[in-house]
Amino acid sequence: MDWTRLTKAAEEAARTPILDRFDRPDRARTFSVTAGDLLFDYSKTAMDDAGRAILVKMYDEAGVAARREAMFTGAKINETEGRAVLHTALRAQHGAEVMVDGQDVTKGVRDTLGRMDVFAEEVRSGALTAPGGARFTDVVNIGIGGSDLGPAMATLALAPYHDGPRIHYVSNVDGAHINDTLVALDPASTLVIVASKTFTTIETMTNAETARRWIANGVGDADVGGHFAALSSALEKTAAFGIDAERVFGFEDWVGGRYSIWGPIGLALEIAVGRDAFHAFLSGGEAMDRHFRAASPLENMPVMLALTGLWHNQGLGYATRAVLPYEQRLVRLPAYLQQLEMESNGKGVSMDGESLTVASGPVVWGEPGTNGQHAFYQLIHQGTRVVPCEFMVGAEGHEPELAHQHVLLIANCLAQSEALMRGRTLDEARAMLEGKFEDDELERQARHRVFPGNRPSTTLVYPKLTPFVLGQLIALYEHRVFVEGAMLGINSFDQWGVELGKELAKALEPVVSGKEGAEGKDGSTAQLVGYVRRYAG
Ligand code: F6P
Repeated sequence: MDWTRLTKAAEEAARTPILDRFDRPDRARTFSVTAGDLLFDYSKTAMDDAGRAILVKMYDEAGVAARREAMFTGAKINETEGRAVLHTALRAQHGAEVMVDGQDVTKGVRDTLGRMDVFAEEVRSGALTAPGGARFTDVVNIGIGGSDLGPAMATLALAPYHDGPRIHYVSNVDGAHINDTLVALDPASTLVIVASKTFTTIETMTNAETARRWIANGVGDADVGGHFAALSSALEKTAAFGIDAERVFGFEDWVGGRYSIWGPIGLALEIAVGRDAFHAFLSGGEAMDRHFRAASPLENMPVMLALTGLWHNQGLGYATRAVLPYEQRLVRLPAYLQQLEMESNGKGVSMDGESLTVASGPVVWGEPGTNGQHAFYQLIHQGTRVVPCEFMVGAEGHEPELAHQHVLLIANCLAQSEALMRGRTLDEARAMLEGKFEDDELERQARHRVFPGNRPSTTLVYPKLTPFVLGQLIALYEHRVFVEGAMLGINSFDQWGVELGKELAKALEPVVSGKEGAEGKDGSTAQLVGYVRRYAG
């Protein structure tokens, strides 16, 4: 694919200040797209008609629509692992059959979801108790990456709907994480869910062993099994760990870890919010799937979100993008999107094994507003690098008695995108300081108060962060990643880049613990091992 068309078009368009684009009265409407009740406004970017037409042409040429259908219908588009990519089947509650290797997978999905519904309800109602008879007051989900970030993010996001037991997420192999979690809990009333697709991930298995010892010390060996459940594709391994098959919720290899919140990996979320809210979340995802499959590119929210991303990263060379939810409960969304986007599209080799001739996916980072405003927005407004900002905000909060605070929240969100676009000129800064300073000092002070402006942002607005809307949002971002990856020609569904570090960590463990020497290691690694060995207790 010839990406120079895009860079040329983007550079050309960027010569016109973004604000001037609004001389056209229909700018906002024509550079926005809706999906259900969601509105995505990308009008505060430099994108113009010509640039957008090139992006859509490139989208067509890349065959994204055909690849999208291949994904939804179970083709093995994850070519390096020989797997289908069917997280969409997990939320397809009303869909047609989907065949993989001659088998309809939807029946298995429905059966597992039905078992999750029952299990979650029994834990919530107290019908299922610990072997000692106590009701489960606390659930600890042990997992990492996709087996943690999704449900952890969503449990916080849906706090107003949380009426089940307390849910805790433990991910880090740092013993501090599980220690600080378990210290406040009573093993007699704690359910531990071991969430690992492979059931081999070192962090998860180490924490699971720690939890098993903690439960055994608290309630005795005989009752341990009654305190565990597992979410995994590796059923022999869950059995070997000693978890009863009835308490294992399996899923197939066509669900990628970072796309797995919609199935068994969402069990802790379902225990928190209950069946109806969890199903509403699935329905939101399914609604976005239908939109993504049916809408033409310009009317298609995931496609336009992706094309805006490519415009900024590959077209204008902005290497990072900030995700800025004005929604405190989406505090973990940036971390969730970091895995979704960077593990999916952070690759330098195309599907056919050739080096990419264009930048891979961007660095994604962020923090909820308004907190970020008092931390890193300084750089966003006046730093020398341009950071495209992706704002999002709900029209309504869940606290009617605090509606005035929500008004302030929205005003702040909209003010930031306006400030980024408008900036402040030197003349405006001088006028502002007139009478406060004089001559050279006025000039010097004024320069510090100049905002270059013309900085791009997009804003996604939704009615209220309900389970349905959260489902729409997450599926929207999943499909955005899909479109960007397909246009870059990379496989968004493998993650070979995480393997080398895992292998080296395994080899270093006996060196760090002192069972083996550091011979053969590079000087820096040997020095660091030496330091740790000297100071470790
Ligand atoms: O290390 C990367 C990764 O494989 C992720 O893709 C995955 O979400 C995470 O580890 C956890 O894997 P598992 O669910 O198999 O424990």
